[in-house]
Amino acid sequence: MAPPGAWSRAPAPVRRVWEGGRARGEARSGGSAPTRAAPPPSPGIGKSLARKLLSQGANVVLVALDDDLLTATSAELAAEFPARDVRAVGVDLGAPGAPYVATIDAATAGLPVSLVFLNAGYMLTGFFEATPLAAQLANLECNAVSAVAIAHLFLTRMVGAGRTGCLVFTSSAAAAVASPFTCLYAATKACVSSFGASLAVEARHRGIDVLVFHPSPVASRFYDRAHKLGVLDFFRGVAVHPDALPPAVFGAVGRTAWRDVGPTAVAFRLMMKLVDFNAMATLSALAAPLLPDFKLAVADAAAKAKKR
Ligand SMILES: NC(=O)c1ccc[n+]([C@@H]2O[C@H](COP(=O)([O-])OP(=O)(O)OC[C@H]3O[C@@H](n4cnc5c(N)ncnc54)[C@H](OP(=O)(O)O)[C@@H]3O)[C@@H](O)[C@H]2O)c1
Repeated sequence: MAPPGAWSRAPAPVRRVWEGGRARGEARSGGSAPTRAAPPPSPGIGKSLARKLLSQGANVVLVALDDDLLTATSAELAAEFPARDVRAVGVDLGAPGAPYVATIDAATAGLPVSLVFLNAGYMLTGFFEATPLAAQLANLECNAVSAVAIAHLFLTRMVGAGRTGCLVFTSSAAAAVASPFTCLYAATKACVSSFGASLAVEARHRGIDVLVFHPSPVASRFYDRAHKLGVLDFFRGVAVHPDALPPAVFGAVGRTAWRDVGPTAVAFRLMMKLVDFNAMATLSALAAPLLPDFKLAVADAAAKAKKR
């Protein structure tokens, strides 16, 4: 695979990301290693990405909700990689008006951030109108708006400094399909996938690679707050450990704009090549009352209405 145009100008840990995680030589010492911002810490995908980057010699700034998990995760990673700089920035990425951008900007001022992972996200389930609007808008902010806002912050800095690097967006297999009972989730992920693919065209020849990856189900806290839905039970059953993702993700940076990781993501996109999106949505809408998950959502909405 041909290296990206800016290969020769890229600092070593950036090259290692482009090389798919196969490190050549030792990590640079001191404070000059490129720093990665914005992967949230958790037992989830963000933590696995952070650990992989630390193992390759990058310093990291973890961005997530300001809670014990953030403190514990940054302490755990700092202890595991004592030669690296691990910082934590606690913000709510669901806050309207993107106040978190100023906090992240201040916390990373002066750091040569060149590897940015936009990974935070969660899923609301059930009928769309059964969840209050404020909660839906916070979800939209976290999954889509915050990714756009944080990408803007660091891309501006990278281009301004003539620095090479990458932006990596975590989308979802759900981005490809109409997704009842997780309507907004699929919409936010489709936004991220489309945005990233367009941005990749603008950024590549300025030495910045943009990748959107579409994970298949991953065993994390992701499903913890979901309603009982048959399709989610199925996904839980086929979920893989988050550590399975970084090699595939790193291997795709600089080589493609989208990367489907795992069989569900591949199957969904393949399906949408065989069946028109509109036909699939229209036929699903006609068949909806027959779907077990539709019946579960009706029962859930009725139970909620009774409680009010
Ligand atoms: N798990 C899957 O099956 C799956 C499949 C496809 C795509 N994805 C995507 O992968 C990404 C990571 O998910 P995961 O599976 O690793 O689940 P996870 O363990 O729940 O991680 C989600 C991360 O997003 C962060 N986050 C959520 N709301 C936030 C907020 N308001 N402000 C700041 N940070 C917030 C969480 O931070 P805290 O640690 O502070 O809570 C958490 O670290 C998400 O974008 C998700 O949509 C997951």
